[in-house]
Amino acid sequence: MLEVKNIADLKQKIKDLKAENKTIGLVPTMGFLHEGHGSLIKKAREENDIVVVSVFVNPKQFAANEDLSNYPRDLVKDSAYCRELHADILFIPDADEIYPAGFNSFADIYQLGDNLCGIKRAGHFRGVCTIIVKLFNLIKPNRAYFGQKDAQQLAIIKRITADFNFDVEVIGCPIVREADGLAKSSRNTYLNSEERKAAAIINKAMQTGQKIIADGEKNTAVVLEKIRAIIESEKLARIDYLQAVDLENMQDIATVKNNTLFATAVFVGKARLLDNFLIENID
Ligand code: PAF
Repeated sequence: MLEVKNIADLKQKIKDLKAENKTIGLVPTMGFLHEGHGSLIKKAREENDIVVVSVFVNPKQFAANEDLSNYPRDLVKDSAYCRELHADILFIPDADEIYPAGFNSFADIYQLGDNLCGIKRAGHFRGVCTIIVKLFNLIKPNRAYFGQKDAQQLAIIKRITADFNFDVEVIGCPIVREADGLAKSSRNTYLNSEERKAAAIINKAMQTGQKIIADGEKNTAVVLEKIRAIIESEKLARIDYLQAVDLENMQDIATVKNNTLFATAVFVGKARLLDNFLIENID
């Protein structure tokens, strides 16, 4: 596996691979890799000649009050994990390489970013869109892989990929969970053992929501109320948002239909944890 730190080397390598007509699968990450990322790398490995993993804790997607400086990092472990999963290239740029002095442009999103995490994390999606546009331009992947846990991010990346005419197939992969249902996340590492146990309530509540819908409930307010009551029964959990939105436009909806996304962000201790489920195939 080749480790690349600078853009000039990366561009040369990509040029060579394109000249050989190799297909490229990209897995963009912020590192501290876990099995969720592993599932993306494995899928990329199955579907492409070359797998590129990027590890970059993107400062532009963190607001001033957020966890940029404390965000967990372990490049040695990440590199070993990527090797184990047979990635070909690990792109690990410094912040100055991606955003050199004078950098003064952004890519941004409108409606899809105006709700859920977009309200709670000012500027977050502008940072995500900007890094994704840069990575797509640099790596020119045929396919790029993202987790469904960040469902709003996935929808936004699909939108900008179409809007900016990138020839990239954006592939969403299922949420990978711990045995008790907690969605895997690099931020789970912030939880102490009591908080870690408490965090299982989030998926438990979401599962109840799914069941109520399977039993015939169509009123999103009723479903959200049940989920809210379960999460709030855990004193260590504090809901940041809990909403039902239309996946197409990320706006709140009153009645459950296909492509209704139930999404939540919940603080447990200082960890802000995301979970969601998508309604498909209902009459
Ligand atoms: O989901 C993430 O880890 C990040 O938001 C991403 C897509 C790698 C962009 O920095």
